[in-house]
Amino acid sequence: MSDATLSDGHDGRRGDPELPPFRRTRRLRRTAAVRRLVRETALAADDFIYPLFVAEGHGVRREIGSMPGQFQLSADQLPAELDELAELGIGAVLLFGLPDEKDPLGGQAHVPDGVVQNAVRVIKRHDPGMLVVTDVCACEYTDHGHCGILVGGEVDNDATLGLLARTAVSHADAGADIVAPSDMMDGRVAAIRAALDAAGHLQTPIMAYAAKYASAFYGPFRDAAGSAPAFGDRRSHQMDPGNAREALVEIAIDLDEGADLVIVKPALAYLDVIRQARDRFDVPLVAYNVSGEYAMVKAADRLGWVDGRRVAMETLLSIKRAGAGRIITYHAKEAARWLREDAAAVASSRPVLAGEGSRP
Ligand code: PBG
Repeated sequence: MSDATLSDGHDGRRGDPELPPFRRTRRLRRTAAVRRLVRETALAADDFIYPLFVAEGHGVRREIGSMPGQFQLSADQLPAELDELAELGIGAVLLFGLPDEKDPLGGQAHVPDGVVQNAVRVIKRHDPGMLVVTDVCACEYTDHGHCGILVGGEVDNDATLGLLARTAVSHADAGADIVAPSDMMDGRVAAIRAALDAAGHLQTPIMAYAAKYASAFYGPFRDAAGSAPAFGDRRSHQMDPGNAREALVEIAIDLDEGADLVIVKPALAYLDVIRQARDRFDVPLVAYNVSGEYAMVKAADRLGWVDGRRVAMETLLSIKRAGAGRIITYHAKEAARWLREDAAAVASSRPVLAGEGSRP
């Protein structure tokens, strides 16, 4: 601490000449207005990418048990959803497909009228301004639930690349703005880039799940997408949770192969990875606040053990503070709504939360 800083404390002694000098940092926390003035990180609706689970059929709107407030939707349900997102100021969605038919080779992943391809067209027809990112992976399309083609009981890396590339091209053909490979096969960004370019999609960016960990936090998603592996797990291709330096290698490789944006996933247990990625690479960095992170907040909120709204917002803020430029999150809609409520409350200088008044 410099002398100048310490000298600040002299008025601290005014009340009690016996006290040593100290600095009054509480000055900048005294009122909501001052806290707002000095806040370093704040959330906005623009920060969020909202995941959507698209099912086949008509009139489908099934709530996902372990993810309260999240639904499997058929394509006809999307326009209403898009209107709600637009109204809330959310400009990007991430699509996952739930095909009726699965097979060992994930054939439905890349058919022109597949569930995601159809959904992309519906969305683009209804709201051309909505940014559509598509998840590119085989796990929702294979009957064994693995992220690629099995050879001798293992996910075969090179045999899977063609499937991923075809899938990405079919998404871009349908009108997807960005493709997001989440499979963690080696070389898939290069394979997808080459295939997109060959198909004329030179301007379609790749948002690579570059540092994706083998995580227990994906549990609820596998219910939502029906993509749990029938045997084994994903540790042979997703990253070991003990490794952070390796994440930087993965990101460097994906950028080298042509990724335009990179994802760190999950978010909350990997804030250190987000921070290091932000410091190291000057590309758009996205964090995925995954299903298990969402489910835990919802469950604890339902039990009355935490204030879910405040925990969710604090979590999202921590992800942004760690360095993520954008956050894929199931909280997107409610968070945008809460931000709006908070802003309205500030505007009318009415306290929103207990203890958030303009007086200390
Ligand atoms: C794979 C994929 C997964 C998630 C996104 N893409 C599941 C997995 O790797 O097992 C998880 C997302 C979440 O948990 O919210 N297609």
